[in-house]
Amino acid sequence: MQGRVVISGAKNAALPALTAALLTEDRVILHNVPRVRDISTLRSLLEDLGVDSSVTHEAHGNRIEIEARQLLNPVAPYELVKQMRASVLVLGPLVARFGQARVSLPGGCAIGVRPINLHLKGLEKLGAKISFDHGYVQARANGLRGTDFYFDTISVTGTENLMMAASLAEGVTELENAAREPEVQDLACLLNKMGAHIEGAGTHKIRIHGVSRLHGTEHTIIPDRIEAGTFLIAAAITGGELQVERCIPEHLTAVLARLGEVGVHAVQVAGESSNGGQILRVKPGGKLRALDISTEEYPGFPTDMQAQYMTLMTQAGGSSVITETIFENRFMHALELARMGADITVSGRCAVVRGKTPLSGAKIQASDLRASASLVLAGLAAEGETLIDRVYHIDRGYERIEEKLTLMGAKISRVSESD
Ligand code: EPU
Repeated sequence: MQGRVVISGAKNAALPALTAALLTEDRVILHNVPRVRDISTLRSLLEDLGVDSSVTHEAHGNRIEIEARQLLNPVAPYELVKQMRASVLVLGPLVARFGQARVSLPGGCAIGVRPINLHLKGLEKLGAKISFDHGYVQARANGLRGTDFYFDTISVTGTENLMMAASLAEGVTELENAAREPEVQDLACLLNKMGAHIEGAGTHKIRIHGVSRLHGTEHTIIPDRIEAGTFLIAAAITGGELQVERCIPEHLTAVLARLGEVGVHAVQVAGESSNGGQILRVKPGGKLRALDISTEEYPGFPTDMQAQYMTLMTQAGGSSVITETIFENRFMHALELARMGADITVSGRCAVVRGKTPLSGAKIQASDLRASASLVLAGLAAEGETLIDRVYHIDRGYERIEEKLTLMGAKISRVSESD
């Protein structure tokens, strides 16, 4: 495979940005919003709440305008939350601006239990009253008050929810052991443009000086570092030469470092790509070497790249140990990869991959978003045809992946629309 690929806006930055628009009655305009299913799901949820939003196609991604003048219904229903856990991101903004929210408890998901206890504990500390009934969590507040909150476990959406709620609280809030992900930083940047006073986003301590009102603004979503990383691995696994455009290499530091050690060299090309952002170029390398990795919170190796890395390791010489520290059940792809010929043993939070094994095309099934990406990568490296079922998982977070891969020379097509 060879050619170029243009990276879309980050799903996990766009989702909280859309819910941040609930914090103001003014219009918030977002650019570079990826055309992925999770964004459509969140728009349906905002519509249910009584919020207007409109979409316009732009050269890169969508422009979405949101105007949350009023709230008709403070409920995030089970039917939508079960499709997408990030729906919980409406909780903080709703309780901060309207004093009430009723959100279905998400329950477990394919990759782990994923509780939201820290979101709730933090909101309680900000002064919200939390109660539960019929599978829903109800939060009420008559004005939130700034507080200090320590996250026992680092949580990305937990940090985002509390940062949004604290923006409209009275007084100062300090979030300690906060998530440092670029998506958290992008949200803080948007909130500050809306009139919030947030310092320290990108570090473990975020200080928020609450304000009484936020206003409208315009913001461009950062590029998706996980999509960029996935395409880098696509090039590496097929021995291709690829130019990855409109990305931010700094957000990929851990991934690029590990890929370099494995024998995949991606270099940043000087200057900007004509369509904005920066450019990484991967050259076909020599043999791939096995290397152990452990997933970590940012700036460590992302859990959202673990499945794709596992596929790469099936094509590397030697054994590698992959340790998943963030989610307790994120190895579902290993069994499907094994059906294609990979030699992988999973034990608790560790997977041992013995390479290099030839992969052969098979009928396989996607279990979650990043797992499905790893299976597409395996299909690219395999001899023969691979048929992946349940590809709706991939549409949740990758924009037209088959079209982007086709432009890079892959033989891939969508057999039927995802349902
Ligand atoms: N956790 C708790 N209590 C909480 C919240 C989290 O114990 O109240 C635990 C989780 O169970 C997990 C760990 O903390 O073990 C980290 O979870 P986190 O809350 O950071 O995950 P998240 O915010 O639900 C986001 C991304 C995920 C990504 C993780 C980790 C969004 C919308 N989702 O999820 O993205 O894997 O951070 O980086 O930002 C994906 O895009 O495929 C995806 C799953």
